Amino acid sequence: MSSPAPAVVTVTGAAGSIGYASVFRIAAGEMLGPDQPVALRLLELPQAIPAAVGTAMELDDGAFGLLKSVEVLDDPRKAFDGANFGLLIGARPRTKGMERADLLAANSSIFASQGEVINEVAADDIRVIVVGNPANTNAAVAAAHAPDVPAERFTALTRLDHNRAVAQLAHRANVDVGEISRVTIWGNHSATQYPDIFHARVGRRSGAEYAADREWLVDDFIPTVAKRGTAILEARGASSAASAANATIDHVRDWVLGTPTDEWTSAALSSTGAYGIPEGLVSSFPVRSVDGRWEIVEGLEINEFSRARIDASVAELQAERDAAFNR
Ligand code: NAD
Ligand code: LMR
Repeated sequence: MSSPAPAVVTVTGAAGSIGYASVFRIAAGEMLGPDQPVALRLLELPQAIPAAVGTAMELDDGAFGLLKSVEVLDDPRKAFDGANFGLLIGARPRTKGMERADLLAANSSIFASQGEVINEVAADDIRVIVVGNPANTNAAVAAAHAPDVPAERFTALTRLDHNRAVAQLAHRANVDVGEISRVTIWGNHSATQYPDIFHARVGRRSGAEYAADREWLVDDFIPTVAKRGTAILEARGASSAASAANATIDHVRDWVLGTPTDEWTSAALSSTGAYGIPEGLVSSFPVRSVDGRWEIVEGLEINEFSRARIDASVAELQAERDAAFNR
């Protein structure tokens, strides 16, 4: 049987920390599966091209059977030409003492122009994940500049927050991470995000039982998850990289290969108005992937405690969007 045509995967910021931690796993088939060949396009700023060339040399040295080609490019138009997947990682990372909001101005112009290019030259089935911060709003900006691409194909990474929440809940319950399901991250990939365990399954118990310990929930679990990025930045002196790459791969793999029918994960998608979240805001939701499309898991009961936290994060998203679109 002949193998499928290579999927064209464009990785922006490919020489950066997250890009470097992603591309070898993509080449190894961990993102699109063991039967899908890939053609990698590494997009970088001109000054980082030498580092990207070095990464391409190492990819060569991996002798990955699925990797059909690697191109290093500083021209977005060439990099996205015919692309099936866009991993929009390249951005200015937050450095110590800098608030995520400060990144908005610096980064939204990058995502506006990449959205335009994607609209013009990417494959009809292009699927985009924005990792570069502020990821939700950058995804909204890119989508707004790509009117011919369905908005649902522009997503942002909150899977890292989801995985962090799963790990913290597993530690609390003293169970394996595999025993945790149905956790949800709502809202923005920022300190206002709301990691919701009221619907979670924790082995044979319910997440609501753990949430009943309000002191742990409010003073420990929620801030640990929501401020984990800052804690890692403080500890490492650089923002999370391998865990962010891992979550990016989880996100795209589940998008393409699907999620179990009675479970869900978290991803930031353009809101359809579900759960009262204004249409078009790129917010994190409980999601399932069915036939290669993300669907929001609807109908979950949202209690007062959760509603207040979702609303606070959505208010921040609205403010970010207003700042990005009214510059
Ligand atoms: P990094 O500085 O190590 O790498 C960024 C790379 O992007 C650099 O090599 C830079 O040259 C490149 N770049 C910048 N602008 C570009 C452009 N216009 N086109 C192509 N390449 C460009 O940063 P990193 O640690 O890899 O982080 C990347 C981004 O991901 C940051 O914005 C960071 O805040 C964000 N992040 C998001 C999450 C999340 O969960 N959503 C988690 C961690 C980090
Ligand atoms: C993270 O959650 O680790 C990052 O988004 C932190 C950051 O601001 O780069």
